[in-house]
Amino acid sequence: MIKLLDDSDLDRSLRADVQAGLTAPVKTLPPKWFYDNRGSELFEEITRLPEYYPTRTERAVLAEAAPEIARITDAKTLVELGSGSSEKTRLLLDAMLARGTLGSFVPLDVSATFLSSSVETLIAEYPGLGVTGVVGDFAQHLGHLPDGDDRVVAFLGGTIGNLVPDERAAFLTSLRQALHPGEWLLLGADLVKDPAVLVPAYDDAAGVTAAFNRNVLHVVNRALGGDFDPSLFEHVALWDPQREWIEMRLRSTVAQRVRIAGLDLTVPFAEGEEMRTEISAKFRRAGLASELGAAGFELRHWWTDPRSWFGVTLAQAV
Ligand code: AVJ
Repeated sequence: MIKLLDDSDLDRSLRADVQAGLTAPVKTLPPKWFYDNRGSELFEEITRLPEYYPTRTERAVLAEAAPEIARITDAKTLVELGSGSSEKTRLLLDAMLARGTLGSFVPLDVSATFLSSSVETLIAEYPGLGVTGVVGDFAQHLGHLPDGDDRVVAFLGGTIGNLVPDERAAFLTSLRQALHPGEWLLLGADLVKDPAVLVPAYDDAAGVTAAFNRNVLHVVNRALGGDFDPSLFEHVALWDPQREWIEMRLRSTVAQRVRIAGLDLTVPFAEGEEMRTEISAKFRRAGLASELGAAGFELRHWWTDPRSWFGVTLAQAV
């Protein structure tokens, strides 16, 4: 394992994010902090909900496209940013191993615990494949990926949608800088569709997404000695048709003051005040092609499902 990040780095960036986000005129908490153990479990549960179509749709697209992806790229190394999606990873690994080109797999994740257990499993399951976990943040550490030729960097699940356009441009540019011309980005992106499909995917009937959203308050309580009462916050999911993203918020149901002892901070919330916890941008093929182009990638191949709900893009560094 390569460690570019440790618990104290994570603690420092959580403190900075919470301090900045809770003292801003419009409060925010970044979605990165959803994923403690409980949050990761809740996300796994979300992926199995009937309303949450992205995971199963992307999996179906990848299952079909994986052999072609292996053939087009002849990848020697597969890098996966923000893994977690082990099942989808296996589709790619199997296809690339069958092709006979693949020698190593490099999963990158912020969670060392999560990463070491998945690296162990993969080493046992794929003898002969070199597996090097990198503990790092895809927004910071792309410059430190193991060098190589014929790398494919997979960024799946639609996680790119958590970034606002400026952040996407910065991310794609830094990824492009980390790659040699000819190397590949495999990008999974959720597509613009009827809000009657989109909104329930982020506001499910069983309330799992609501619990996932509120879990970030538990994360802040535990890490920074906060006294958030999550039951005093309502889950909100709305579709912004101009910016073409889903926005998740937590709405304070009462006027209240929240104490964050570890930051020596008291945060007032008005009754009905909403705090943004996530954006999940939805894409169109043309928009993706132009964002990729601006960062030095050329969109070469595009796969989608029969309803065009989820897009998998193969772009090449030029
Ligand atoms: C893991 C970022 C792709 O945006 O759909 C699921 C996270 N948030 N339900 C998404 C999420 C609410 C998910 N990503």
